[in-house]
Amino acid sequence: MTAAELAAPRSPQRPARRGNLEKWGWIYMRVSGVLLVVLIFGHLLVNLVLPEGGVHALDFAFVAGKMADPFWQWWDVLMLWLAFIHGANGMRVIVNDYVQGRAVRKTLVWVIGIVAALMIVLGTLVVFTFDPCAGVFGPFENPDSALFEVCQAAAAK
Ligand code: HEM
Repeated sequence: MTAAELAAPRSPQRPARRGNLEKWGWIYMRVSGVLLVVLIFGHLLVNLVLPEGGVHALDFAFVAGKMADPFWQWWDVLMLWLAFIHGANGMRVIVNDYVQGRAVRKTLVWVIGIVAALMIVLGTLVVFTFDPCAGVFGPFENPDSALFEVCQAAAAK
């Protein structure tokens, strides 16, 4: 291709088939980036800096307490969705930029998409269905554990 054949720098790529999807992807990276700064640094502050004892206060009970609160459930789910789509889209861009073979490139982009979708579904399920007493009673129950006592008291209510 000669210089005379080059498209104008701002013309959209393959406009007929893909619309402006790449532009929206570009905007998504910037908007989600701004939101992620707030969500990620808020997450680090609340989990690692503010609790008395800092990082040492982080245990099962701390996480179970947060997961019982809809505010933190939605905070974490928002962070999960935004970061996974952001990370997966970023990886897609890198693969499209650097992988030259069409079949390998398509396969990798599909793998990235499937893994991201799976992790988003699993993570969302975990956040909204988390039950600290799951598995405490039954074949693996351990009456000496602190959780056993707490869950027994809760079940008796
Ligand atoms: C602190 C919050 C974050 C901000 C402000 C941020 C911002 C950005 C921006 C603006 C881009 C686009 C760069 C470009 O088009 O040249 C980008 C790309 C990317 N981000 Fe993030 N990001 C953040 C968190 C994350 C997280 C948590 C992940 C991983 C899950 C991630 C993975 C990526 C990847 C893989 C790319 C593509 C890199 C590239 O194009 O060279 N980012 N980020």
